[in-house]
Amino acid sequence: MVARYPKSRSALLPMLHLVQSEEGYVSADGVALCAEVLGLTKAEVGAVATFYTMYKRRPCGDYLVSVCTNLSCTLRGGQEIYDRLSERLGLGHDETDAEGRFTLEHAECLAACDYAPVVTVNYEFYDDMTVTKAEALVDAIARGERPAPTRGDGLPTFREIERQLAGMGTTPEAGER
Ligand code: FES
Repeated sequence: MVARYPKSRSALLPMLHLVQSEEGYVSADGVALCAEVLGLTKAEVGAVATFYTMYKRRPCGDYLVSVCTNLSCTLRGGQEIYDRLSERLGLGHDETDAEGRFTLEHAECLAACDYAPVVTVNYEFYDDMTVTKAEALVDAIARGERPAPTRGDGLPTFREIERQLAGMGTTPEAGER
């Protein structure tokens, strides 16, 4: 991964995703490893990891449910969707259930305002949502299903998508190809 970039520190963002694919969040051990490999201080790594919302400070559930509550989505019911899912899952913003299944979060604009209101699960889009459709989505995931997103290849787990974001493929085998 480091060899992909002219300067080693440029590998930090994908390395942090790789840490999350293994640990489920940016752990202290992961910060230390990135610092050691890239010749940075732990403070420098921590500054990056805490700046971006996609890097999680606590273990994330298998399914990160992000509900856009920015303007376009809220005008079309995004806040109602968030409130209902919060009630259904028993979770507030940035909370994860005891089983490590779901994490819920408010999201800022997900750049899909044409399809508002939008929900993503592990960054896969579910467009034109309603309260009813959003409830059905999390219920299906809770039953062990992986409902097809509006776009994309399918619904990955959090650790699977983090491996993809690290540029390593969906599995260790795929990453080696
Ligand atoms: S405001 Fe929700 S996607 Fe832009």
